[in-house]
Amino acid sequence: MKRAIIALALLGSLLIPANPASAHQPVVLLNSDTSAAKGPLLVDGTVSFAVRASFTKSGEKKAFRAGFKAGDSVAVQLLIMDKKPENKLKNSALPTVIITAPSGASQTLKISERTKFFEPYSATNYLYLSRYSAPAEAGIYSFTVTAKSKAAVTIAVGEKEIRGEVLRGEAPTPTPTPTASATPAGYTLEQVKANNTAQKCWSAINGQVYDLTTWISSHPGGAGAITSLCGTDGTSAYINQHKGQSQPASRLSGYLLGPLAK
Ligand code: HEM
Repeated sequence: MKRAIIALALLGSLLIPANPASAHQPVVLLNSDTSAAKGPLLVDGTVSFAVRASFTKSGEKKAFRAGFKAGDSVAVQLLIMDKKPENKLKNSALPTVIITAPSGASQTLKISERTKFFEPYSATNYLYLSRYSAPAEAGIYSFTVTAKSKAAVTIAVGEKEIRGEVLRGEAPTPTPTPTASATPAGYTLEQVKANNTAQKCWSAINGQVYDLTTWISSHPGGAGAITSLCGTDGTSAYINQHKGQSQPASRLSGYLLGPLAK
């Protein structure tokens, strides 16, 4: 999987910081950023970014990810421009933002204010809707924004006024390729064995085949526990560690490709 680095150098250099809220590096979510895995990754979530999500109708979703280390703080603010239609919308008609930590714990940003804020660089009036700050878990957080009507929001992440890196890449998908398609009976163990790297990591667990590639860097028990499963039947390793636990089971279900052929 090739990842292209989007250099925001030019924009970054134009936005010289004056106060913390003014210099967030802009990132615009695309219509194809419909899930965290497909959306951009803010490599260091402590660098200040302003992520813009605009929607044309209720039900649309856009998402992105941000990386944190233990000891970092997750600082997020939700803003709208102080203009129509957003500033006329009730809270219940504004997009919701769900933050999911690497452990899977998630929460919805609560809209609790409409505080005016003038952003001098773009000469734009904003309204703060919500501010959130908490100690970070190490790993990748996902941020999912869901529209309730036609509206746009800005999610400001991070506080450090340095230029940050944004990765965009072909999202790892379970789309079958000619060498990796499921037979009617399911995926073969040979196919699993062929995907035995951290770049393409499949594992069979309890008779099902999973693509764990994107889970490697998010696993609370360390990347090594997952990379050691790549290309193998990981059933016993998984059961030994996580038998009967709901969080690992629900995580795992998100990476399902299909049944292992008998
Ligand atoms: C694909 C398989 C796996 C999935 C989906 C998975 C998922 C998870 C999840 C969701 C947690 C957090 C649990 C919680 O906070 O309640 C966790 C923690 C953990 N996992 Fe896994 N896991 C997998 C495989 C493994 C394996 C094979 C090992 C060991 C060989 C392992 C070792 C650990 C450890 C030690 C923790 C605890 C980390 C901590 O709290 O400090 N995991 N895993």
